[in-house]
Amino acid sequence: MWPYPKIVAHRGGGTLAPENTVAGLRAGRAYGFHAVEFDVMLSKDGIGMVMHDPDFGRTVAGAGQVAHTLARDLAAMDAGSWHSAQFAGEPVPYYTQFIDYCKEQGIWMNVEIKPADGFAAATGAWVARVTRDSYADEIAAGDMAQVPLLSSFSMEALAAARDAAPDVPRAWLLDRIPADWQEQARALQAVSINTNHQHLTLELAASIKAAGFGLFCYTVNDPDRAREILLWGVDGFCTDRIDLIGPAFA
Ligand code: G3P
Ligand code: MG
Repeated sequence: MWPYPKIVAHRGGGTLAPENTVAGLRAGRAYGFHAVEFDVMLSKDGIGMVMHDPDFGRTVAGAGQVAHTLARDLAAMDAGSWHSAQFAGEPVPYYTQFIDYCKEQGIWMNVEIKPADGFAAATGAWVARVTRDSYADEIAAGDMAQVPLLSSFSMEALAAARDAAPDVPRAWLLDRIPADWQEQARALQAVSINTNHQHLTLELAASIKAAGFGLFCYTVNDPDRAREILLWGVDGFCTDRIDLIGPAFA
């Protein structure tokens, strides 16, 4: 039901490195992590880039939008200086660079499909196809613990991912879990519910587990809270505090 690692580094290396960069992946590895969550958005030319915000201004300087910028121009931007001088010049990665690094290092990926407005279906389908093609051998061998888990807040993106590459598993990301969650999760053929721990209750956790779904939480930075939700039956969670909550946390 949850063949993946329990503790996952959020946005690459949590707060210890600039989010969604290869430097973040390296920071996660330095702390012993073999599992990562990050965000993928399409460039103007339809290429998946590892970015959280649709607009520039926070992690890259200036004004502009990911969906209106060519991939090669995004890849030349500095996504590290906002964090600290030590990471100045750290580029915006291509999704395929993350795949290559994670395969080489044996890192499992939770790929969040993060579409810009109007690009939900295109982003979901692109991420699903590229992931399926990159993990074709693992999928053919039934080695699903090695295959990334796709997730999204966008049901349209998840439906497009399901239709483009049904063999790549999907999780439905939810801030708050609605009353009809089970019906909707089954329609998406989702294997897991990934939710904000702040709105999760023991009762909801129990019903999700009893229905046979994986249950994953974001973003848990307090060790006491982490222990509590694990006792509730939560299968795994991502954290920004990879220095406080390590991969062997229990
Ligand atoms: O995938 C879980 C979490 O990353 C969702 O929120 O805004 O950090 O992408 P956000
Ligand atoms: Mg995310």
